[in-house]
Amino acid sequence: MPMAKKAYTVIVVGPGAIGCLFGGIIREAGHEVVMLDHEPLRAEKIDRDGIRIEGISGNRTIKVRATARPVELPDSDLVIIATKSYDTEKAILDVAGAVGPNTPVLTLQNGLGNVEMISRTVGSDKTIGGITSQGATLVGPGSIIHAGTGKTVIGTPANRPTAYLEKTKAILESAGFEPQISFNLEATIWGKLIINVGINALTAILRVHNGRLLDFEGSRRIMRQAVEEAVAVCRAKNIQPAHENPLAQVEEVCRLTARNVSSMLQDVVAKRRTEIDAINGAVAWLGGGVGIDTPTNELLTLLVHAIEQSYDVRLNQ
Ligand code: PAF
Repeated sequence: MPMAKKAYTVIVVGPGAIGCLFGGIIREAGHEVVMLDHEPLRAEKIDRDGIRIEGISGNRTIKVRATARPVELPDSDLVIIATKSYDTEKAILDVAGAVGPNTPVLTLQNGLGNVEMISRTVGSDKTIGGITSQGATLVGPGSIIHAGTGKTVIGTPANRPTAYLEKTKAILESAGFEPQISFNLEATIWGKLIINVGINALTAILRVHNGRLLDFEGSRRIMRQAVEEAVAVCRAKNIQPAHENPLAQVEEVCRLTARNVSSMLQDVVAKRRTEIDAINGAVAWLGGGVGIDTPTNELLTLLVHAIEQSYDVRLNQ
């Protein structure tokens, strides 16, 4: 008789594109999934209607539990923080009561600072950091398009294998994500950051798909300058970027995700706050600390802030 597969309880904080993708697919693998959302009406809708995934992995609706009330959360085997980076602190405080002695807390969020923030609340042993290149677009509450698959890499802040890391890997693997293990988490996170530095702000400012950034001399030059600054800051902090040629890697991601609407452009189109401060803003801020000039990242940060501040201004006002 085949041995029954162990079903785990997984809490996903933040039903954005990546939260719905991981929550939905982990639920499909037979685990319990509870989505925690700070918006009660959206939580109610997801709890009632489930998560809708369309795109490369097929079209389906997956029933999950969802709540806006942290007190309703069950004890969990894994917590995934999938909020925007500016909400990480609130997210980890909200979910802390459901983090038991054997619960790893995974972040695959964009930007810098998430691992550190989670570690401060639950301890660095339980904190699992990482990146994902899965492409997903939020099209409505609990409804996403799965636009592209990509690798997911996870690791521990101490760069050592732990039972928490093994458990996280096992749960992701059981849902088909095939996570790779990094033994240099900072370099992995900087590797993804450099990609976001080169793509996200530019796509949000120009309102183009990722692939279009390679079509114009101006966007190629700004991309190169922003990436070179980020690489210089990374090296000045004694972190070896994960890719040998970071600019070539950013261009490759533009090609691989050519039809993606970047997460920052999705935010700008929906007039939401963006993650600019944890991406280009973080490079500029950290550059100041290590004596590296970052004029391009500073300007990109200011431009995206100006876009956020002028969401409701019309031409004739
Ligand atoms: O933030 C995003 O949109 C993604 O990280 C990436 C890799 C830029 C693809 O769109």
